[in-house]
Amino acid sequence: MKYNPLENSISIVGATSGLGEATARWLAKQGWPLRLIGRNSEKLSSLVNELEALPRSKILEAISVDLLTEGGLQKAQESCVSSDITLNFIGIGLAGDSVQFDEARVRELLRINVEQTTLLTLNISRAYMKRGHGKVINTASLAAFHPIPYFSIYAASKAYLLSFDLALYKELASKRVYVITLCPGGLKTEFHSKAGLKDSIVKDYETFVTEPIVWAKKIENIVKRGKSPQYLLGRESMYSVFTKVLPSTFMASTSGKLYKKYVDI
Ligand SMILES: NC(=O)c1ccc[n+]([C@@H]2O[C@H](COP(=O)([O-])OP(=O)(O)OC[C@H]3O[C@@H](n4cnc5c(N)ncnc54)[C@H](OP(=O)(O)O)[C@@H]3O)[C@@H](O)[C@H]2O)c1
Repeated sequence: MKYNPLENSISIVGATSGLGEATARWLAKQGWPLRLIGRNSEKLSSLVNELEALPRSKILEAISVDLLTEGGLQKAQESCVSSDITLNFIGIGLAGDSVQFDEARVRELLRINVEQTTLLTLNISRAYMKRGHGKVINTASLAAFHPIPYFSIYAASKAYLLSFDLALYKELASKRVYVITLCPGGLKTEFHSKAGLKDSIVKDYETFVTEPIVWAKKIENIVKRGKSPQYLLGRESMYSVFTKVLPSTFMASTSGKLYKKYVDI
């Protein structure tokens, strides 16, 4: 089954910043009916005002929830189940000397990147299965493909998500429910500074960092298609080939040297 803006709607979890916000803007311009879910209520209402002014936009719902709360997860799920497709962009990074990480931030990362993302995916997929179709598109990372010293828990959480999603894809694809994983490399968003990485990482690797709009357009292509790929890489797709060929100990020591330069230790 193919999807289109006249018959299908999309929920966006994490719509108030970065890749989620860029994707919301792009899809609204293309006339897709949207349900927006974000944590920051002020940013959410200003985004809704902006998008509602676009000629073809249809904002069906906008809800502000903190996904770390029980009620927040429930509300987000209800909104996602009302749509045919869920795009989930939530994710937290944490960079530095791993043994010095603040315990509260470690718990927050694991709850958002692993626990809440898993529950959201399972509960929405179950509802889509009953309906007979649907897509859940989660955001992992290129970091899912190998260990990254000084970004250890983040990379491990994305490896978990990729593994979990690939398994669900196999379980559900025959039921016309597709769980798809996005694996972007570096994106030009505030993610790095929020994670505690020095801003210079984006400047130094500018040629490798992608504007979120590029991914927003790729995401729309994946949304529209009937049968979808299991995971989606960006222009760094060759890099994931290296990670299959080279030992993970080598990848870890190379990426560790790189990340060490961009953390305060
Ligand atoms: N930027 C990159 O280089 C890069 C590369 C590969 C993969 N990714 C992944 O891509 C996704 C989007 O990242 P981004 O670059 O767009 O960064 P971002 O702007 O920081 O996006 C993260 C999203 O998660 C939401 N979030 C975090 N904690 C939440 C909570 N408790 N309740 C509700 N929402 C919460 C944030 O909401 P708030 O706006 O309220 O904080 C935000 O919408 C993430 O999963 C990230 O891991 C990013």
